[in-house]
Amino acid sequence: MMQIRRKQISRKRDFPVDDIRRFLEPGPIVLVSSASKGRRNIMTMGWHMIMGFSPSLVGCFIWDQNESHELIRRSKACVINVPTADLIETVIGVGNCHGSEGDKFDRFSLTPRPAKKVDAPLIAECYANFECKLVDTSLIRRYSLFVFECVKAHVATKPKYPTTVHYRGHGVFMISGHNRSYRRLFKPEMLEE
Ligand SMILES: Cc1cc2nc3c(=O)[nH]c(=O)nc-3n(C[C@H](O)[C@H](O)[C@H](O)COP(=O)(O)O)c2cc1C
Repeated sequence: MMQIRRKQISRKRDFPVDDIRRFLEPGPIVLVSSASKGRRNIMTMGWHMIMGFSPSLVGCFIWDQNESHELIRRSKACVINVPTADLIETVIGVGNCHGSEGDKFDRFSLTPRPAKKVDAPLIAECYANFECKLVDTSLIRRYSLFVFECVKAHVATKPKYPTTVHYRGHGVFMISGHNRSYRRLFKPEMLEE
């Protein structure tokens, strides 16, 4: 087996527990679009996790102070859109304001496209769009955690690995970079494709 040289870590410091998210967050930042009763909205979201792949489940933390929270709770649907690094200013802008301040599609010049299976708009400028139905509401009140099932996915044909943006807290983003295959180190049954 190939040996990868391990880094020596000489010192560690006490760290505030309420800030550990800075190290655990970095899934790709997404834009969540939704619609209800003639209103549409978009929010920026970093706190999401895969909860299963068949059915395809995604857990999303949508804070109850965000207008998207009530809108999605009512419509029971959203689209999870994956932006790339060229959209980073839009990602921050969308996350810096609320829908009641003005329609975010117009404000940020984003193009809504009709979804196939849910009543929420896709964002055309994003690399991927995942149409989602709200399938479990039991954790919303306690944790603001929405469990969605992705029922339809639209993904750009290239590039294979999009340059996604990942939030590290305190205004810092990691821009995804190197993609290197380590397939040979995996047990075959652990490879999902
Ligand atoms: C990088 C970034 C990540 C964010 N992640 C989340 C998140 O995971 N959950 C959440 O509820 N709000 C998150 N926000 C905040 C919302 O995007 C923000 O409050 C937004 O304005 C809500 O819009 P709305 O009130 O129109 O729904 C994030 C904002 C930024 C800039």
